[in-house]
Amino acid sequence: MTVSTDGYLSGFGNEFATEALPGALPAHRNSPQRVAYGLYAEQLSGTAFTAPRGHNRRSWLYRIRPAAMHGPFEPMGNGRIAAGFDGIAPSPNQMRWSPLPMPDAPTDFVDGLVTMAGNGSPAAMTGCAIHVYAANRPMQGRYFYSADGEMLIVPQQGRLAIATELGLLAVEPQEIAVIPRGVRFKVDLPDGEARGYVCENFGALLRLPDLGPIGSNGLANPRDFLTPVARYEDVEGDFELVAKFGGNLWKASIRHSPLDVVAWHGNYVPYKYDLRHFNTIGSISYDHPDPSIFLVLQAPSDTPGVDTLDFVIFPPRWLAGEDTFRPPWFHRNVASEFMGLVHGAYDAKADGFVPGGASLHNCMSGHGPDAATFDKASGADTSRPHKVTDTMAFMFETRNPLVATPYALQSPQLQGNYQECWAGIAKHFNPAKP
Ligand SMILES: [Fe+2]
Repeated sequence: MTVSTDGYLSGFGNEFATEALPGALPAHRNSPQRVAYGLYAEQLSGTAFTAPRGHNRRSWLYRIRPAAMHGPFEPMGNGRIAAGFDGIAPSPNQMRWSPLPMPDAPTDFVDGLVTMAGNGSPAAMTGCAIHVYAANRPMQGRYFYSADGEMLIVPQQGRLAIATELGLLAVEPQEIAVIPRGVRFKVDLPDGEARGYVCENFGALLRLPDLGPIGSNGLANPRDFLTPVARYEDVEGDFELVAKFGGNLWKASIRHSPLDVVAWHGNYVPYKYDLRHFNTIGSISYDHPDPSIFLVLQAPSDTPGVDTLDFVIFPPRWLAGEDTFRPPWFHRNVASEFMGLVHGAYDAKADGFVPGGASLHNCMSGHGPDAATFDKASGADTSRPHKVTDTMAFMFETRNPLVATPYALQSPQLQGNYQECWAGIAKHFNPAKP
């Protein structure tokens, strides 16, 4: 077990062990007859019991009260969260949205979630829901978990202090956090306001990709993934436990904080990762590789090489391809792409795609640089390298087409003129001039 200097546990998929009180972790037993300090032992499994050892994820929690202790759940209304994606026709139109504005009314992280797109379902255990959030107050007296999928959180503005059953994750823009399916948490906003993106992954758990010919290092390195140490609240009161279950929100009363895990060990854990640590790999001769080279995390499907969900970033990097069109080229993909921008500008668009905004390019819908970017890059000097700075774009790329929600399609943030960014692309073809 490695402890990094700021109190996190370092590594990906490791078997960690941590205790907030000395001797709280049982030695050599998961569920001894009596646990130190009068704690209860509880197993939290994130994969099937019989999943292969390399992919098996579970943790043992030693807590003040079992997770079963709360009132009955009742439906509470979904707000702007979509219950599902069946019955809505996916659209081949390219779409782009301006950032979600900060709310006027008091809005916490859960209230602030807005579903933009998705596919599959929690029941099918494949697909994802893509949300954005804008919030202006901490979660007070309430706790949340998603039974539908793990939550990949990408802050864009404002830090998040995510207190989970397994410890505290402090994340800021250009970092990501992953909260496992079922893990209860609450979100505080150290900066008062916060905005960002969430991908709820209904499929296999996110993992680091194999590296193939890249070798044993590169892309996101395992030691840069940080999991919190144990930390507990021993608090009683009149609280609310909110569950996302089967696409819908449910609430139950709870008389104590569910963040009462004093010690735990296991490999089913929340974690964070600083995207600025990504070891970006690219061409040092000509052309540039497919964007799979920017893969941070993947959720594999049952088909080898085809993922339910890929999380891809476009970080600052050197472009060195000689005699090469260096921005992302025009393309059409079998996959579907939901993009966001955390910071700065994106090198395939001159304007319109701003931090906090989003775009959707579904299966086989053509897209790529806008006219201004094409003209500039076509005339650029490629005899020397150029550094793309001040940027952090990302993509949730999915196997199946993404369905934009009615909310997203009717949102005032939808840019009705998005397709015009390609309208000014000139015809240069001249059969008489090779
Ligand atoms: Fe694309």
